[in-house]
Amino acid sequence: MQIGRMDRAIILGASRGLGAELAKKACANNFPVTGMARKEAPLRLLQQQLPLFEYKIADLAKAEGQDTVIRHLLEESYAKVFCVAGGGPYAAFGAANWKDHEWAWEVTFRSHARVLHALAQAHRFPQVILIGSSVAESGGDKGAASYAAAKHALKGLHASLRLDYPDWDLRLYSPGYMDTPLLPLNASVRQGGVYDPIDVANDVWLWSVSADKGGHKVYPKHPL
Ligand SMILES: NC(=O)c1ccc[n+]([C@@H]2O[C@H](COP(=O)([O-])OP(=O)(O)OC[C@H]3O[C@@H](n4cnc5c(N)ncnc54)[C@H](OP(=O)(O)O)[C@@H]3O)[C@@H](O)[C@H]2O)c1
Repeated sequence: MQIGRMDRAIILGASRGLGAELAKKACANNFPVTGMARKEAPLRLLQQQLPLFEYKIADLAKAEGQDTVIRHLLEESYAKVFCVAGGGPYAAFGAANWKDHEWAWEVTFRSHARVLHALAQAHRFPQVILIGSSVAESGGDKGAASYAAAKHALKGLHASLRLDYPDWDLRLYSPGYMDTPLLPLNASVRQGGVYDPIDVANDVWLWSVSADKGGHKVYPKHPL
């Protein structure tokens, strides 16, 4: 039997790190998932491991990739939308190329903002969980200026849309440092310990099925 999309989640940025762990958690709870990312190999591997997982390829940093995601979202009706993808250059602002800063803004903020706009414009209000950053969304982040700027913007957008659409179950989940490929192996913050993305994914999933409609949850900034 084909399972209706209303019983599915979509994860933007599902191929590794937090998004992949979230996909495993949702499937373990019998909740089918469509995962999106750029690289096919890790998505195919997840599909082989998880019978309830399917995937689509899209580059969220490019207008065509964002169009693909939006078209898909409007054609289907997902119950849950997890906006997980994010990233940016790790260097002093002037040492990174401008195109890398633009990439950070597209993938971390603009793609998710466009998804929210398309849903709101179409009067479609599934549960949406945005992934922020307890560190980068509310303070400076050395070596990650464009990433921090995008996370601040995401937080501002969430707070403002809560005012525009008080009945929309639109949540912001802000994790602390996690042991994923996003955090460079030589990042000094790793010395203080980092969270296991499996634990964070469990927490996101449990929160998503809780009644905290429209809230903002901050996972502790640092394990220590
Ligand atoms: N790791 C941390 O310490 C930390 C701390 C606080 C907040 N966060 C946030 O948590 C979220 C998940 O981070 P993570 O650590 O799990 O990151 P990650 O390991 O780098 O995974 C990022 C995911 O996003 C996808 N992605 C990246 N660029 C994309 C693009 N242009 N188009 C489509 N998909 C793209 C990646 O797949 P492809 O490369 O195949 O596209 C991958 O599936 C992010 O929003 C991040 O900002 C992370």
